[in-house]
Amino acid sequence: MRLARTPWLGQALATAAVAVAGAVAAPATEPPAPRAPQRLSETGLYGPIGIRSVAPGVEAFVPQYPLWTDGARKSRWIQLPQGARIDVTDVDAWRFPTGTKLWKEFAWGERKVETRLIWKATDSGWVFATYVWNDEQTDAVLAPETGVPQVLEVAPGKRHSIPAIADCLTCHGLAPSPVLGFSALQLSDDRDPLAPHAEPLPKGAVTLRTLVGTDRLAPRRPELAQNPPRIRERDPVARAALGYLSANCGGCHNDRGPLARLGLVLLHDVTHDDDRAAPEPAHATTVDTAGRYVVPGLAPEDSRRVAPGAPDRSALLHRLRSRRPSSQMPPLGSVVADEQAIALVRSWIESLGPTRAAAH
Ligand code: HEC
Ligand code: HEC
Repeated sequence: MRLARTPWLGQALATAAVAVAGAVAAPATEPPAPRAPQRLSETGLYGPIGIRSVAPGVEAFVPQYPLWTDGARKSRWIQLPQGARIDVTDVDAWRFPTGTKLWKEFAWGERKVETRLIWKATDSGWVFATYVWNDEQTDAVLAPETGVPQVLEVAPGKRHSIPAIADCLTCHGLAPSPVLGFSALQLSDDRDPLAPHAEPLPKGAVTLRTLVGTDRLAPRRPELAQNPPRIRERDPVARAALGYLSANCGGCHNDRGPLARLGLVLLHDVTHDDDRAAPEPAHATTVDTAGRYVVPGLAPEDSRRVAPGAPDRSALLHRLRSRRPSSQMPPLGSVVADEQAIALVRSWIESLGPTRAAAH
């Protein structure tokens, strides 16, 4: 689960750590870097009556395409400093005001296990931390920087581990913004009815429409509310499959981060939504395209990232299904493959096949 062992990630991680963890790696001449508090109850998430309700100014949000974490039930909140706006000049890389905090709670059944925090503590840096809930479920304590292995059994013989801070950066440090689930596509009011593991939107949750309506974006961008972003695919199965890939894979597989050199772009780009002819990057860079990775047992010329109509020749599906450390995708963060997503991506690949096309 620790990634420093993998050479490619060591390199990517070094870049990510410099880009993201300014607060962690501040030079000695600067004031001491802010640190995450020792207890979750000290982070500002909860109000005066404790964990039964969140503090005033803390707002719930639900990304339309959640990340798969072995069936965890998740809750997420954001606190923007009062009166401050999010800089959305680059609509695909939001810049958050200093002081912004985001939390994400993980529970299996009724058992809360950890609550993660990312906090823009200084103008240049984000603090990453995670808190492990006690058995009494009354508070959670800051986890060690190296994480906590195997805290809870989530499937027979498979256990969830609390990630190390380096793991947080591996996923959050390679994307255009370190915030992954509070973005234009994820908060779109045109929510995908087929998104795997979609979570209901609680009353009062933040969406693009509420952000525009309460004037929290700079520039205001009313078009995000009027013409909400969506995956550029007409077929509902394709839309959901590529939305899933954007959220679960696009943080690393995008055209701006250190992995851009792979030429595998799974992140949706809102910038091109106005251009009706623009293909979805996850389609354009996978379908009938040879990748560096070859499906085991196949000749390189038979293996494709996505082989139209042929799931078994599709490296992308192979790696989504795998939970072998050397081939699983994402390479960290889950120990059980996401069966619902596998079925969805398989149907999408089958729908691209010659048989189906001929029938139309
Ligand atoms: C496997 C990749 C991965 C790892 C490892 C990971 N995250 Fe995330 N995280 C995501 C993705 C993707 C989202 C957005 C989708 C969602 O919330 O379901 C997210 C969402 C969050 C959020 C809500 C704000 C946001 O960015 O949307 C917080 C807070 C967070 N993560 C903190 C952490 C911390 C702290 C760690 C390390 C202890 C960590 N994460 C490790 C991928 C990861
Ligand atoms: C934490 C970063 C990260 C995430 C998230 C991630 N990947 Fe990857 N992926 C990599 C890296 C690094 C490589 C290159 C090294 C390798 O092949 O293992 C890679 C390689 C690949 C390749 C082979 C590329 C080629 O040219 O042949 C495929 C296919 C792939 N990933 C699919 C996915 C899918 C599907 C997801 C989401 C379900 C995903 N990845 C999520 C880091 C990531």
